[in-house]
This record gives sequence, C-alpha cells and structure tokens, in this order.
Amino acid sequence: MAGTNPYIEEVEVIKPTKKYRITFLPMGTTVEVDPEKLPYGSTGLPGSVLDIALAHGIEIEHTCGGVVACSTCHCIVRKGFESLQETTDDEEDMLDNAPGLETTSRLSCQAVFPGDEDVVVEIPEWNRNAVKETPH
Ligand code: FES
Repeated sequence: MAGTNPYIEEVEVIKPTKKYRITFLPMGTTVEVDPEKLPYGSTGLPGSVLDIALAHGIEIEHTCGGVVACSTCHCIVRKGFESLQETTDDEEDMLDNAPGLETTSRLSCQAVFPGDEDVVVEIPEWNRNAVKETPH
C-alpha cells in the first residue's frame, strides 16, 4: 500500500549520489543500494529504509503504507545515524508512539541515507512482519 498523507508537511528528499550498503539486523542481511534504481517502490519516501527493505524481501511492518500515520515501521539505526536527513515534527510526533524507543530510532519509511557510508539498521522484533503473502 502506498499513498500520501495530506495532514503532514511534504518532505524534500535528498537521494544518495553513490552506491552504499545497508545491513539489516538481526538477520545480518546486507544489500547494496544503487541510487540509479531509486525509488525501488512506492512505499515510504524514495530511497527510505522501508523502500530498500521491501525491495529486497525484508519485511518491515508498515501499517499506514509509509505516510507517517503509524509507528509500526520503527527501526533503530546502529550505524550512520548522524548522516540521516533530520526528522520532521510529524515524524517525531509519530515516533513517540513507538515501543522501545532509543536515541537513534527513526521511522523506516522516513529515514533516507545520503549514501556517504555503509550503514546498519536494526528492525525491532515486534516490527518484523513474519507473515508474507505468497501466491497460491
Ligand atoms: Fe506508518 Fe512508516 S509505515 S509511519
């Protein structure tokens, strides 16, 4: 599901200009992000952690479809937090509802890395979507 949220301020996304790698914990899955291919999909900001994860088969909960109307896509940035685009007030407000908040928590649908370095993101256990829809 993807869409827009008319109640939030539009975010100007600065996409990465070079390739970088993102490692998802606890799985330890590392993927290479190619700026030429962004966005991978239409869920979350273009090039967001959620956009990248979903494109590589890493299921993160995203109940609102990536429009800052839930906090189910909460992730914790273990490496590269300082390089992220700043949070908006809308993201901060929604993030406050997420369980297990840490100082480097972000909404994965809003967190876009500039690609200056390889980064590490942890998906909290309760945000991992273990149920995948598969064709019958
Ligand atoms: Fe709802 Fe990110 S998916 S805020």
